[in-house]
Amino acid sequence: MKTTGRISNVWSGLLFVPFVLFLSGCAKDPVLVQGETIFMSYCATCHQKDGKGIPTAFPSLHNSEWVSGDKGRIIRLVLRGMQGSIEVNGETFNNVMTPHSFLSDAQLAAVLTFVRQEFENDADSVSAVEVSLVRASLVSDELFIASELAELFGIPQLPSQ
Ligand code: HEC
Repeated sequence: MKTTGRISNVWSGLLFVPFVLFLSGCAKDPVLVQGETIFMSYCATCHQKDGKGIPTAFPSLHNSEWVSGDKGRIIRLVLRGMQGSIEVNGETFNNVMTPHSFLSDAQLAAVLTFVRQEFENDADSVSAVEVSLVRASLVSDELFIASELAELFGIPQLPSQ
């Protein structure tokens, strides 16, 4: 009896290692999990849960240069919202996206990291510091005009002390 017990302990110990490795492989990055939750609460209403939007009304976030391109531009876009004619993947839209400045720097960083890495996009993450630098640089809270925003790039730097 004793021998059997020892053997089964050894076996369960051995099985435990691959089990932990399996779990850690499955565990999603917590930032992406948070980003997905924020996306479903605040963005999916218009862009839809699958990020594919609605033809003529809400543009798709799949394979979009606006999503995976310059970070400074997408941060400005979600903070202040946007209106005016915009072309996404060959389709033209002229509608209004509402501002999302009520979300914290960390929440915006998470949702933007999520959209930049989901929906056939493969871009680097956005940090809360980057969001806070862009937020601090915005002088008005009017909606951006798409054609003007298309020209705005980069994360502003804090003036050196
Ligand atoms: C009220 C509806 C609405 C909500 C909510 C909304 N958007 Fe938008 N979004 C739009 C519309 C409409 C446009 C195009 C605006 C235009 O025509 O100039 C747009 C454009 C965009 C674009 C650029 C075009 C593209 O498809 O790549 C991105 C990126 C984007 N939205 C991301 C987001 C993210 C991220 C959220 C959530 C934090 C969000 N949007 C919430 C309606 C919305």
